[in-house]
Amino acid sequence: MAERKNTDFDRPGGYAMPSGATATHRRAARTACAESIRLVGDDVAAHEPVPLPGIEPAHAADDPDTRLYVGDCRDVLPALPDRGAVDLVFADPPFNWDVPYGEWHDGMPRAEYERFTFDWLDACVDVLAPHGSLWVNIPDDTAAEVVMHLKRRGLTMINWCVWHFRFGQHRSTSFIMSKVHALYFVRDPDERTWNPEAILEPSDRASIYGDARTMAKSEHKGLRVPMDVWYGQYLGRIQGNNKERRHGHHNQIPEAYLERVVRSCSNAGDLVLDPFLGSGTTSTVARAWDRRSIGVEYAPANAASAWERVTEIGMIRKGSSAGRSSAIFGKRRELAKD
Ligand SMILES: C[S@@+](CC[C@H](N)C(=O)[O-])C[C@H]1O[C@@H](n2cnc3c(N)ncnc32)[C@H](O)[C@@H]1O
Repeated sequence: MAERKNTDFDRPGGYAMPSGATATHRRAARTACAESIRLVGDDVAAHEPVPLPGIEPAHAADDPDTRLYVGDCRDVLPALPDRGAVDLVFADPPFNWDVPYGEWHDGMPRAEYERFTFDWLDACVDVLAPHGSLWVNIPDDTAAEVVMHLKRRGLTMINWCVWHFRFGQHRSTSFIMSKVHALYFVRDPDERTWNPEAILEPSDRASIYGDARTMAKSEHKGLRVPMDVWYGQYLGRIQGNNKERRHGHHNQIPEAYLERVVRSCSNAGDLVLDPFLGSGTTSTVARAWDRRSIGVEYAPANAASAWERVTEIGMIRKGSSAGRSSAIFGKRRELAKD
């Protein structure tokens, strides 16, 4: 039987997004809300937030307003005066992989970990502004549950990005892990903040093939919005003698990753929140790009070190996430001069 092609595309003929893809995502969220989808963590009682009236940040700075609260984000977020006013949340939770984060015990029974995940996701959704975006950095073993939970909370998925790194730990029993998922959800796809100009990079057409057509475009000549698999210079894991590395912290995310999220999904003056601040990457990048920010960190020692980074060291790779080709082949043809 002849292949039947769906021609209802913004750009017919290829692996482009069907024009109805966002509508489909939105419908998926609505359906997930309406259905009673059961996940393992649903059998565990939800966390009762500890009331923290008049909560004060442990560390604070002005211009732009930057605050760091020490505590459990499931308690801190419901007590914040900024509920409903956060423009962008970026969350990189503990993965339940027995990482020694200091005070936090990173080894719960699976059902409890899922419940913990739903509880902090709910707290993040509740602080978001109606036009807000929520990004979650999460590995294979919990990505599906995060996606299903956010859908049943009525959020719409915009991208399921993959952060690809090449120095995964060696193993011989299966393929080497070389990615984490970067899930991009919004409350309202029609109202979200989206700044593609801030993150453009040279396209493969320009950097490999010297394609004259891309240079003939009226704007953004030879440039494209990055693909949804992220890799390349300054996007590797932070380890060894990497200049960004903050010793004593685990699973630190590269500045370029956060810069891409912060610049594409918020504007100067906006409020960015990270419920698991760790070494302080989110607030460091937010501050460098004139965004207000709130960080929450459970371990006081991690918070003190993060604050030193945010306020005294600052961002060291500002601008590294855009304008750099991610081509995986060398140049095959020079670009024609105009
Ligand atoms: C994966 S690390 C975050 C790393 C961070 N993205 C960075 O670039 O440095 C997770 C952090 O969350 C903290 N944490 C764990 N549970 C927490 C909770 N319930 N509330 C707030 N922070 C928590 C841990 O102490 C750890 O520093």
